[in-house]
Amino acid sequence: MIEIKLVKPEAVLELQKISIQTFLETFGAVNSALDMNQYLDKAMNVAQLERELKEKASQFYFALQNQEVIGYLKINIGVAQTEPIDKNAFEIERIYVVKNHLGKHVGKLLFDFAIDLAKKLNKNKVWLGVWEKNERAINFYQKNGFITFDSHLFKLGSDIQTDLLMALAL
Ligand SMILES: CC(C)(COP(=O)(O)OP(=O)(O)OC[C@H]1O[C@@H](n2cnc3c(N)ncnc32)[C@H](O)[C@@H]1OP(=O)(O)O)[C@@H](O)C(=O)NCCC(=O)NCCS
Repeated sequence: MIEIKLVKPEAVLELQKISIQTFLETFGAVNSALDMNQYLDKAMNVAQLERELKEKASQFYFALQNQEVIGYLKINIGVAQTEPIDKNAFEIERIYVVKNHLGKHVGKLLFDFAIDLAKKLNKNKVWLGVWEKNERAINFYQKNGFITFDSHLFKLGSDIQTDLLMALAL
């Protein structure tokens, strides 16, 4: 049984733990430790995550199994979207499953939850940015109907990387 639960501001330390763990598991082997650390210090420090948790147009959700956090999702609407795509669009900013639960449909559960939420909010489109070298995630999004429509630059420490922008019309 996997439960999806809204993350409250008081769970910031749990959020920081899963955020750093999954980011390192996903990207640690293919980026320099310096770039990774610089990015994690900036993007996943407690004060930054607290600000994001308080943002009214963003939400975080945990995927829980026996009260253990095994994945998480961050979504943005309106002004909280990280690119000015469309004010009525819905962004999946982060969707991460811990390494030992990959491929067990936890990602799909979080993904379907996000799509349902976007539909309930009457959004016209769901979009996301994904590193061009993250083949596993790109294949997952393609399998779920997403199509690449643009790209943007993403700074990981000192490394300038290209993210594909992918979208699904609702
Ligand atoms: C992307 C991610 C969330 C997908 O979740 P997952 O748990 O690996 O995938 P699931 O088990 O939910 O897969 C659901 C379905 O998609 C299929 N699938 C999953 N990954 C796939 C891939 N790379 N290519 C093709 N099909 C894939 C599964 O086989 C399954 O199909 P089925 O329903 O026919 O059995 C997960 O891989 C992840 O957290 N990756 C690391 C973090 C990351 O890269 N996040 C994205 C940053 S933009």
